[in-house]
Amino acid sequence: MKSRLLFQLTETHSLYNPLLVALDAQPGDAIIRYFPDQETYIRILSEVKDCDVYLLCSLNQPNKKLIPLILFTETLRQLGASRVNLLCPYLAYMRQDTVFHPGEGVSAKYIATLFSQTFDSLITIDPHLHRYHHLDEIYTIPTTTLHATIPIAHWIAKHIQHPIIIGPDKESEQWVAEIARHIQQPYLVLEKTRLGDKMVSTSLPHLDNYQGCQPVLVDDIISTAHTMIETVNHLAASQSEPITCIGVHAIFAEDAYEKLRNSPTQKIVTCNTIMHPTNEIDVSVLFASHQIYD
Ligand code: R5P
Repeated sequence: MKSRLLFQLTETHSLYNPLLVALDAQPGDAIIRYFPDQETYIRILSEVKDCDVYLLCSLNQPNKKLIPLILFTETLRQLGASRVNLLCPYLAYMRQDTVFHPGEGVSAKYIATLFSQTFDSLITIDPHLHRYHHLDEIYTIPTTTLHATIPIAHWIAKHIQHPIIIGPDKESEQWVAEIARHIQQPYLVLEKTRLGDKMVSTSLPHLDNYQGCQPVLVDDIISTAHTMIETVNHLAASQSEPITCIGVHAIFAEDAYEKLRNSPTQKIVTCNTIMHPTNEIDVSVLFASHQIYD
């Protein structure tokens, strides 16, 4: 087996140490800094020739990470790395997966083309697959999609005695159904209409059959948090059990976290795909299987 190196780009990530163990890799050493004009300086200090290199980079706030990621990969190739694999716990640009209005492009496809030209493989967690059902529909490199559903299910089973798991929109059914099945608890899926970047409306949850159950909202992404807040407000108006919001990817754009905290939500919990104080669900276990890296 070729020796493996793992680099983390642009930020310290709690998945880095578990990944070193899972990959049986050496820590990669590099300098990444920004010139006064904000161009990126990269110097790779580890010997990478003939190595299988893994780059850990979660792509929240993607625009400031993409150029460093591409420059880093090109530098690795120039230094003779045999493979460069992207470990991307949160994969950005997946929501623009179709032309919604005339004149738009399909960003998910363009990023897939760019990444397929740049990397040898991609491993990610719960990418926003809606109109695409599998990353292979747009990626030409091998991809692995891991799912946070079981760690989320374990968290719910441990912390909430009688949950009713609620997905705020049709896309969330893939997560809530699987979580509910795993812990044998009921679930509901609502209808959502997006009226703008920061405006959504969700249908009213009907909880008549779930008296005494605690609502647990589960969504893949919490970005502006308007999807969660809208649903939480409906729930608070119709029942009095404490409400928990669980997101896989804690984007929390702008003041979204504050807004959600100020809503009638009792607890906000996320997975550690994106570093955030709400990271209570550790997904490092998903990377433990060696088969992922063969
Ligand atoms: C969209 O379909 C996703 O599954 C999430 O519901 C959405 O990204 C949440 O966005 P926001 O937090 O801005 O409402």
